[in-house]
Amino acid sequence: MKREKTNGKEKKKSHQFSVCRFTAGFGGQAFAGTDTEEEYEKKQEKLGERHQEYVYGVPDVPTTDWVMSSGGRLYDNWMNALDIEGPEVTHPSWPASNTKKQGATTWRCKTCHGWDYKGVNGKYASGSYKSGIGGVTHMHGTTPQNMVAILRDDIHRYTSDMLSDEHVLRIGMFISRGLHDTDAYIDRSSGKTIGVASRGARIFQNICATCHGFQGTKLDWGSDDEPAFVGTEANANPWEVLHKIRNGHPGHEMVAMRPFSLETSVDILTYIRTLPEK
Ligand code: HEC
Ligand code: HEC
Repeated sequence: MKREKTNGKEKKKSHQFSVCRFTAGFGGQAFAGTDTEEEYEKKQEKLGERHQEYVYGVPDVPTTDWVMSSGGRLYDNWMNALDIEGPEVTHPSWPASNTKKQGATTWRCKTCHGWDYKGVNGKYASGSYKSGIGGVTHMHGTTPQNMVAILRDDIHRYTSDMLSDEHVLRIGMFISRGLHDTDAYIDRSSGKTIGVASRGARIFQNICATCHGFQGTKLDWGSDDEPAFVGTEANANPWEVLHKIRNGHPGHEMVAMRPFSLETSVDILTYIRTLPEK
């Protein structure tokens, strides 16, 4: 595997990225990361040995599916995906009128553009993430390279120390080719999903249960009073969970179902909404 390595001046540029390469598949170089050896070693220590490569590494020959799911994890939380500290200051484009969110979390793409990728035209039209900012779905089909200019502009202000060009290209692939239309599968007001639970159960019991257990309660990221299981999350925020089923969970050794059909992910989501919430 290729390590996420080399930093700053040593960093290889990837401006050769072209439409031709785009369709022909990817040379690893275009998507190599920016860690120094030392930074990489530190991340390695945090996770169990078997999972380190999957969470922080880059395949020698990245497939389009891997590039998109990696981009999806960066969209979710690039700080966790790369294990770096986020900025302490609130993002300059986050509206001052919304004081419910501040600091590093306002630098996550999803905080402004949403789990449904629709921004103000979707779930974040109201609630604690309300910002009035638009979505990213209109970027379908764009060249991933365009994302570099967008994310370095005055609106976004992502420096290459936060996200390298290579990382931005992965996000670009996710946005241009990897988004799904949540409204086709999840009812916007009730959160009800249209998948087939029995099909989802077959997949959950054989794949997800490895880590989450058959009831989805073996991993708990909540507190003693308020546990958070797969079932809790899938009912509270099916948009978020569909994103994570497709792309994995940044900074954790969770599988990404991206290579399988979107319907498969929706079936899983539909099933896990029946699992215990407490
Ligand atoms: C603090 C809020 C904020 C964050 C965080 C943020 N954006 Fe944006 N983004 C905006 C605003 C504001 C616009 C301008 C238009 C609008 O209101 O939708 C925008 C526009 C865009 C557009 C459309 C550009 C165009 O030319 O139409 C894309 C694509 C985009 N953002 C991607 C991202 C990605 C990827 C990330 C994470 C790496 C991100 N944004 C993080 C606020 C944000
Ligand atoms: C190899 C282990 C592994 C497998 C397999 C796995 N997960 Fe996970 N999953 C994790 C870990 C680790 C976390 C993070 C738990 C934490 O934050 O403490 C997680 C978190 C989650 C979350 C919560 C994310 C959030 O919102 O914070 C959901 C939902 C989830 N997994 C669903 C699934 C589903 C559905 C499958 C099957 C498609 C699956 N997982 C397969 C390891 C796994």
